[in-house]
Amino acid sequence: MKIRKVEKDKKQYLDLLLLADEQEDMIDRYLERGTMYVLEDNGLKTECVVTDEGNGILELKNIAVEPAFQSKGYGKALIDFLIQTYKGHYAVLQVGTGDSPSTIPFYESCGFRRHHLVKNFFTDHYDHPIYECGVKLVDMVYLQRQL
Ligand SMILES: CC(C)(COP(=O)(O)OP(=O)(O)OC[C@H]1O[C@@H](n2cnc3c(N)ncnc32)[C@H](O)[C@@H]1OP(=O)(O)O)[C@@H](O)C(=O)NCCC(=O)NCCS
Repeated sequence: MKIRKVEKDKKQYLDLLLLADEQEDMIDRYLERGTMYVLEDNGLKTECVVTDEGNGILELKNIAVEPAFQSKGYGKALIDFLIQTYKGHYAVLQVGTGDSPSTIPFYESCGFRRHHLVKNFFTDHYDHPIYECGVKLVDMVYLQRQL
């Protein structure tokens, strides 16, 4: 298993980016200023993008695992890599997500805890309704864990 930083042409991973964030102009808000990593293990398995939000906060903006390889530990492996890489450099790793049963339990099992909500984020910023597991996403749920 190898994890490497992607320095250029981050849009080559657009299919994976869109799995986690289905509107491309929302991805454009953070992709270039973010730091992207990919995990390869006999081919591409996972990508993530993190940004410096100031005040010691590192934010995970996007994480996605190839659909055929989900639930095999790759997502958690990339989170563990971020923790090891940024421990001591930032105080907190933060992630914002919809209130969905397909993502919140994953983050909780990686040590994140609910921190705050941004009301109506999905309905205000996306040009179409976003559904996950049949649930319409409305508020952004922020979870944090110490680094
Ligand atoms: C969410 C995602 C990144 C998780 O990565 P993954 O490789 O499938 O998850 P892992 O196999 O590393 O799971 C790690 C832990 O989370 C738990 N977990 C993962 N998804 C879960 C779910 N839907 N419900 C309950 N637990 C879950 C696993 O059981 C595992 O727990 P354990 O360590 O106690 O065994 C991945 O499924 C994905 O890419 N989903 C689509 C894109 C997406 O929704 N991205 C997030 C946008 S905010």
